[in-house]
Amino acid sequence: MELTDREIHLSKDLFGADFEWGVSTAAFQVEGSHDADGKGLSVWDVFTTKKGKILNGDHAQTACDFYNLYERDIDLIKELNIPNFRFSISWTRILPEGTGKINQAGIDYYNRVINYCLKQGVEPWLTVYHWDLPHVLEVKGGWTNREAITWFSEFITICAQNFGDRVKHWMVMNEPVVFTGAGYFFGIHAPGRSGMKNFVPAIHHVTMSIAEGGRILRRLLSSTTQIGTTFSCSQIEPYTDKPRDIAAAVRADALINRLYIEPLLGMGYPIKDLPALKDLKKYFYPGDEDKLRFDFDFIGIQNYTREIIKYSFFTPYIKASMVKAEKRGVDLTAMRWEVYPPSIYHMIKKYDAYPNVKKIIVTENGSAFPDEVTDGEVNDPKRLKYLKDYIAQVLKAKNEGCKVNGYFVWTLTDNFEWAEGYHPRFGLIHVDHATQQRTVKASGRWYAEFLK
Ligand code: FCB
Repeated sequence: MELTDREIHLSKDLFGADFEWGVSTAAFQVEGSHDADGKGLSVWDVFTTKKGKILNGDHAQTACDFYNLYERDIDLIKELNIPNFRFSISWTRILPEGTGKINQAGIDYYNRVINYCLKQGVEPWLTVYHWDLPHVLEVKGGWTNREAITWFSEFITICAQNFGDRVKHWMVMNEPVVFTGAGYFFGIHAPGRSGMKNFVPAIHHVTMSIAEGGRILRRLLSSTTQIGTTFSCSQIEPYTDKPRDIAAAVRADALINRLYIEPLLGMGYPIKDLPALKDLKKYFYPGDEDKLRFDFDFIGIQNYTREIIKYSFFTPYIKASMVKAEKRGVDLTAMRWEVYPPSIYHMIKKYDAYPNVKKIIVTENGSAFPDEVTDGEVNDPKRLKYLKDYIAQVLKAKNEGCKVNGYFVWTLTDNFEWAEGYHPRFGLIHVDHATQQRTVKASGRWYAEFLK
C-alpha cells in the first residue's frame, strides 16, 4: 500500500517517546459471565432484562466473553503493538452485595488479567467505576443516596489494596455526566431513574465520590502512581449568532463539559451558567465545598463529536436543544454522531486552559460503522480515516503546547454499546458475537503499523 503525504506526516514519533498510546474497554461491555463465580448483579444486568430498554432486546450476559477469553484479547493487544490497555473493574465481581463480604474469585480474576497484561508487556490502566453499580445498592437509592460515597469508598479501597502494587495508572470513574444524565435524568440508561429529583442528588454524591476516591488512592498507592479520572466532552457551538442561541450553548456547555470537572478543580459547580441546578446546594453537608476538590495527576478526556445547540422554549430546565447531526447534512457514524475531527482539538484546548489541570490523556476516541467480514477481512476505511484525522488534531494541540500526553482508541473489540446493544461496532477488532470469532479490521492493522 502506498502511503500518502499525510500518512507519512502522521508518525507516532512526532508525539514524543513518552506519549502514551492505548486502547480502552469497560467491564460490562465485554466481560459477559454476568453471574459466574459468585458475581452479584449490577444495575446494567437488571436494566438489560427490562423490555424495550435495549435496541433489539440485546443483553450482555456473554458480550465478548472477555471473562474467559482475556488471554486471547490481551495477546491481540500485544500483536497490535498497543502498549497500554485501559479496562474497568466490575464492582459486583468483588463485592457481590455491594459492600461487606469480598468475593475472592473476583479479586483472583482481575489479578489474572493484570498479571497476564504484565507478562505480555502491556501496561494495565484501571478504571474503578464504569457505570455498573451493584443492583442491591440501587435498591437503597443508588447514587441519589449520600451513603453511596461510603459504599464507593469501600469498593475503591479494596481495589487499591489488591491491585495497587502492580497497576500504575488509575481512573476513579468514567464519564459521570453520561451515567448520571442518561441513568438518573432521562432514564434511558441503567438504573432508569428520571427527573431532577434523582439527577441533582446523584450529581453531588458522584462528584463527592470521585474526589474521595482520588484521596483514597493517593493515601494507599505509591507516590509514583498516576491518579486520574475521565470526562466526556463535546465541542459546543451555537446554531446561529442570535443571543438566545449563544446563551443556550453556554448552558449546554456548562452541563456537558463543565459540570463535574469544575467542582473537582476547586471552582464549584457552574450554577451561574446553569441555574437549573441551583438545588445542588440543598445536598451539601458542612465541609463539602472543600471535599469536592481533588488534585488529579491527569484528566482523561473522551471526545467523539461536536454538538450544535439552539434555544428551545419547550425543553425544561435547560431551554436548549441539540440540532441533530442527521439534519445537518454532515458525515455520520452508526451512532448518528457527526464526524468532526477539530472537536478533539478544541476540547484539548479547553481543558488545557484550566489552571489546575496538570496533564491530559485522551482516554477514549473512536467511531462505529456497520463493518462486515468479507473473505476473512474487514475493510473499514471510514474508521481508519476517522482515527487518522482525530489523531492529527491531537498532534496539532500538542504542537501548540497543550499538556496532552496520551491517546486511547475506543475500543478493542466490537462490544455491547449500552442502550444501543450490539448494533454499533466500535472495535479495532470485529467480533462475531455468535461464535466469538475475532477479525482484526484494517483500522486495527493500521494502528499496529502506526505504533510499531
Ligand atoms: C463512552 C463510554 C464508553 C462507550 C463509548 C462509545 O461514552 O464511556 O463506554 O460506550 O462512549
